[in-house]
Amino acid sequence: MNRKQMQTKLSEALKKKRFAHSLGVCGEAVRMARLFGADVKKAYIAGLLHDCAKCLTRDEERELCEKYDFEPDDMTKACHPVLHAPLGAIVARYDYGVEDEEILDAIRYHTVARKDMTLLDKIVYVADVTEPNRDYDGVETLRKLSKRSIDDAFFEAVRQSLTHNLKKGVIIHPNTLEAWNDICKNNK
Ligand SMILES: [Fe+2]
Ligand SMILES: [Fe+2]
Repeated sequence: MNRKQMQTKLSEALKKKRFAHSLGVCGEAVRMARLFGADVKKAYIAGLLHDCAKCLTRDEERELCEKYDFEPDDMTKACHPVLHAPLGAIVARYDYGVEDEEILDAIRYHTVARKDMTLLDKIVYVADVTEPNRDYDGVETLRKLSKRSIDDAFFEAVRQSLTHNLKKGVIIHPNTLEAWNDICKNNK
């Protein structure tokens, strides 16, 4: 499937707002890939498709898990909003024909992150929270950082996500904590 076909298919799979967000993430991911020296084509596809499983019904999610023998970890089960990321990697592979593991990883980890994030992982993670349709306190700080240093932008994005979740009193996926500790350790 070429990129145009991916876009068309995605526009049919997502709600309008979510599709606009996806185009925004795609554009930001491409911009950062150029700036920070990542593969621009991979950034385009990962950014475009990162939320490709976001608009599924619970039944469709269950069917996908069964069909592809995917068992979400306990924390993902307990925190439903993060499930669309690993499911997105499955949908991207089987419905959009993406075979590249780096792209699939960037989709898989765009919500909870992971230890040892690749450059592409970080770019998609940051693009997801800085794309032009995003509007929240702190977004401008992130946008500025995303023009200077992907590591600083990623650090700040994880910090904001953790702070937000702590304030809300919700589960923090262990991957996010691992990512955070990993960055802090390496920053020392
Ligand atoms: Fe997402
Ligand atoms: Fe997103």
